Amino acid sequence: MAHNFILAPSIIAADFTHLADELAACESASADWLHVDVMDGHFVPNITMGPFIVEACQRASKLPLDVHLMIENPERYIEAFAKAGAAHIIVHAETCPNLLEIINQIKSLGCKAGVALNPVAPASLVEDVLPYVDSVLVMTVHAGFGGQAFMPEMLPKIAMLRRRLDELHCAAALEVDGGIGEPTLRSAYEAGARAFVAGTAVFRHPHGIAAGIKSLRESIALDAS
Ligand code: DX5
Ligand code: ZN
Repeated sequence: MAHNFILAPSIIAADFTHLADELAACESASADWLHVDVMDGHFVPNITMGPFIVEACQRASKLPLDVHLMIENPERYIEAFAKAGAAHIIVHAETCPNLLEIINQIKSLGCKAGVALNPVAPASLVEDVLPYVDSVLVMTVHAGFGGQAFMPEMLPKIAMLRRRLDELHCAAALEVDGGIGEPTLRSAYEAGARAFVAGTAVFRHPHGIAAGIKSLRESIALDAS
């Protein structure tokens, strides 16, 4: 990794009338992943995109697609997203009574498995599955919409998960999603996060996508541990 953290622009904030160009701009600006926010209007009060958009994105970009399922009954759709080209499939612990079962289903389809927590969901919901996942996604806004303000009260949850992942020697990426910009990326990094989803800070940057990605990269000095 050329940088000391993963940057995953969230396409929810992209200009969908020029999606391929926007994804190409992320790729040439060395984004690591593309984050795809899937919402069903039930688990969250918004409806966004499905496997159809994931399939289009994998034709438009070589970047791994980090697909975030903010949906009820995600087990019904895992296969469709895997077939559409998802590299990572993230499910919310709150929507999966049999979390380990769905994690194994995701991995059996050849995708990396992630587990996400909304701000109100305690880290204890995911503790038992930490050794089996490839990423843990801590929501730093209430899932549903881009452009919300970062919730600093999530920093202790990030730090606690960092400690547990390190204690258990888990290789899972600790990822944060929501309200990430320069100052908030720094505080989440200091709490132990090493993968950052950013929608507004990248796609709505006043000087364009490359400038947005560059300013996020520069928010952490390269010599930071
Ligand atoms: C919330 C979404 C957003 C999005 C990022 O459900 O998941 O967090 O990815 O949006 P920004 O970076 O604009 O807060
Ligand atoms: Zn997301």
